[in-house]
Amino acid sequence: MIERNDVCWCGSGKKYKKCHYFEDQAKELAHQTQGKPQKQKKGLIKSDSEIDGMRRAGAFNGEVMDYIRPFVKAGISTGELDKLVHEYTLAHGHIPATLGYNGYPKSCCISRNNIVCHGIPSPDEYIQDGDIVNVDLTSIVDGFYGDSSETFLIGDVSEDARHLVDVTAQALITGIAVVKPGRPLSSIGEAIEPFVKSHGCSVVRQYTGHGIGTRFHENFTVYHHIDSDCEKVIFEPGMTFTIEPMVNRGGYQVVTDRKDGWTVRTKDGSLSAQFEHTILVTSTGAEILTMTPSQRKENVVLSVDGKVYKNHE
Ligand code: MF3
Ligand code: CO
Ligand code: CO
Repeated sequence: MIERNDVCWCGSGKKYKKCHYFEDQAKELAHQTQGKPQKQKKGLIKSDSEIDGMRRAGAFNGEVMDYIRPFVKAGISTGELDKLVHEYTLAHGHIPATLGYNGYPKSCCISRNNIVCHGIPSPDEYIQDGDIVNVDLTSIVDGFYGDSSETFLIGDVSEDARHLVDVTAQALITGIAVVKPGRPLSSIGEAIEPFVKSHGCSVVRQYTGHGIGTRFHENFTVYHHIDSDCEKVIFEPGMTFTIEPMVNRGGYQVVTDRKDGWTVRTKDGSLSAQFEHTILVTSTGAEILTMTPSQRKENVVLSVDGKVYKNHE
């Protein structure tokens, strides 16, 4: 048995996982399912007009991200940021998806420091120098959803926090890079989790990426960790979903606030970061639907405090 970290059998000298691993896996899967009825779930593939809708929703969500970015600084309250997102979205004729979603009270999620996700913006919560702050935006444009998030470094951030945010940004890039038709959904977690662990951090297991379309969360669950429970979905052109790894500096365990029912924190109080993009599977790989205007211009997938992250290859 050749292991993922062994040298590839083809003689390239590269590690197996960086070379023929995914291709072999896809072949093995095709072999196993030969002659059997297709088990792939129904309704996973978007039509051309739906893809057009998803592109427009993703592009608008990216526009909101570029709009809010310069405001995410020490001294502003998270409630004020939420108001700006809300007003910008409505002014452009669109809808903030989180407002009223399962009773969620605000137009975006803002998660500081040890908050993993679903932080509720508040007029009493001020962003401070040294914070790491995730802003998670979701817009509905003509019925289609765009969903993306970034973690911002506020002023003078500790080396440790900077390291975490860097690893998390690379985790998203690593996840996007494995998306190719024919590969299994599980390849995302298989790429992200070992990478994150090798840098001394952990991947949150309780929250995941998700299929997305004319509903916020649809079709399948995108694990960012390795788990035999991962749904047996094979990527095909026309699928749309998010990749949104939440990475903790300490353990992966999380707890939900008992009072507000939303705020998710790390159990051990360690810092947590996240980046998210909405992805379309194409005939050759992945198209990132939520790239912001500035990311498109600079041809980068993410940019954090001047450090850029490009697509692999
Ligand atoms: N935007 C989050 C995601 O990436 C979901 C937020 S749902 C809310 O899936 F209700 F908490 F806003
Ligand atoms: Co999402
Ligand atoms: Co989101």
